[in-house]
Amino acid sequence: MKISVAKKKAQDVSADLFVVAVVEGSEDGGAVKELASDTRRAVAARAKALDFHGKAGKTLSVQAADGDVLLVGLGKDGDDETLRRAAAKGRAAAEAVRARTVALCVGSDAGAKQRVTPMLEGFSLAAYRFTKYRSKDDDAYDGPKTLTVVGAGVDTGAASRAAVDRTRVICESVCLARDLVNEMSTVKTPSYLAKTARSIARGTGLRCEIWQGERLEREKMSGILAVSAGSNEPGAFIKLVHKPKKARATIAIVGKGITFDSGGLSLKPSKFMEWMKQDMAGAAAVLATMKAVAALEPDVEVRGYIASAENMTGGGAQKPGDVITYRNGTTAEVLNTDAEGRLVLGDALCVASEEKPDCIIDLATLTGACVVALGTRIAGIMGNDQKLIDALIEQGGSAGEKLWQLPLADEYADDIRSNTADIQNIGGGSAGTITAALFLRCFVGETKWAHLDIAGPAFAEKPFPYAPRGGTGFGVRTLLSYIDSL
Ligand code: BES
Ligand code: MN
Ligand code: ZN
Repeated sequence: MKISVAKKKAQDVSADLFVVAVVEGSEDGGAVKELASDTRRAVAARAKALDFHGKAGKTLSVQAADGDVLLVGLGKDGDDETLRRAAAKGRAAAEAVRARTVALCVGSDAGAKQRVTPMLEGFSLAAYRFTKYRSKDDDAYDGPKTLTVVGAGVDTGAASRAAVDRTRVICESVCLARDLVNEMSTVKTPSYLAKTARSIARGTGLRCEIWQGERLEREKMSGILAVSAGSNEPGAFIKLVHKPKKARATIAIVGKGITFDSGGLSLKPSKFMEWMKQDMAGAAAVLATMKAVAALEPDVEVRGYIASAENMTGGGAQKPGDVITYRNGTTAEVLNTDAEGRLVLGDALCVASEEKPDCIIDLATLTGACVVALGTRIAGIMGNDQKLIDALIEQGGSAGEKLWQLPLADEYADDIRSNTADIQNIGGGSAGTITAALFLRCFVGETKWAHLDIAGPAFAEKPFPYAPRGGTGFGVRTLLSYIDSL
């Protein structure tokens, strides 16, 4: 899809579909005023007949002589998320009318400029489909070829072009994360993630390092080795680094990369295993963020770490009661092999904290308990630094990725104290999200750290406003906004 921005009125461009932003209270002004006069009359008549107001989330479709029109309501002060969702409705309409060319009409008022990037984002992300495994195209429509943002009030200068470029890079990265999550586990092994990391780094300034086999042993990456022991697929530790000449800050992002979670010997029931290909969504977010960082080249050093393994039940599998010794000396008793995410993250958090970044942010589909607490649309966030947590919640909020803080409560630290080792990998059965985070805390030392439990929003069993069912790419936009805010 070719994207361009034109400082023009809608009446001066041709398109199969005009998606027209409507602010509540000025239904016949703004972008509607820029439509050709016949179209405007048809729109006004239909809006009157159906009592359409520009309330957020409302739409009105009109067939006019010079193209289909979809009015999308923005409410009174359409925030970015409202704009993304409104534009996503435009994308659905494009599909319905098989539009080849779409004009996104943002108007001429003071708010027009600010609508451009969120609406582009919503439209682009809503266009994502995972079709690799469809045998036939029962639907030959593969989306609009061109999308033109029009409005007398838009900018077309270098800054505006850069903003459009940035949005394109971000959306492509989110879609990469979705592709990785949607890929089947038999294909996307830990070695596949390693290969993906290498190809992301190729031709860019990113440095890529992969530890596998022997190297994992030498480096005492005991969590990855223990979880991989039950699988035919070797585990992998992946590092990607963007190092600018002058960095304002240095951050580490860490992803859980369990390419399939059967539960191991503490086997999951089949219903719970159905979607466990998603258990590398944290790793997918880190890989995708690094890809965007390579293109956007922020003045921030960004180090991405991925701890990857397949959690299976092979003859060599780790057993409940086994003890793991981590590279920071901590010993952990594995009482439940299905609490494997924290085991592999322990390794990655050790390495990340040894390298002394300003902060560590980890993303993991870590606990079913977090889905129970916050549902499928909101991620849990915990950590040891309130400023970092607040900043991430704020950036997530504006990116449309909701984070909700849970307490990293010392009251529950005893729950993970082991009889045999220093700690054990499950708590007492309640506060499962918090005890998982307390386990992770043992590996970050003094480094400022925030942990995002994305078990809910990483994967959509029902479509999201601008993501179809499947991997959502959750976390990528929050991380990129956070990096941008430093
Ligand atoms: N990968 C799962 C968590 C999960 C659940 C992710 C649902 C996405 C959707 C994790 O490894 C797991 O199995 N956690 C256990 C922990 C328990 C054994 C302490 C869980 O949540 O049941
Ligand atoms: Mn598990
Ligand atoms: Zn898991």
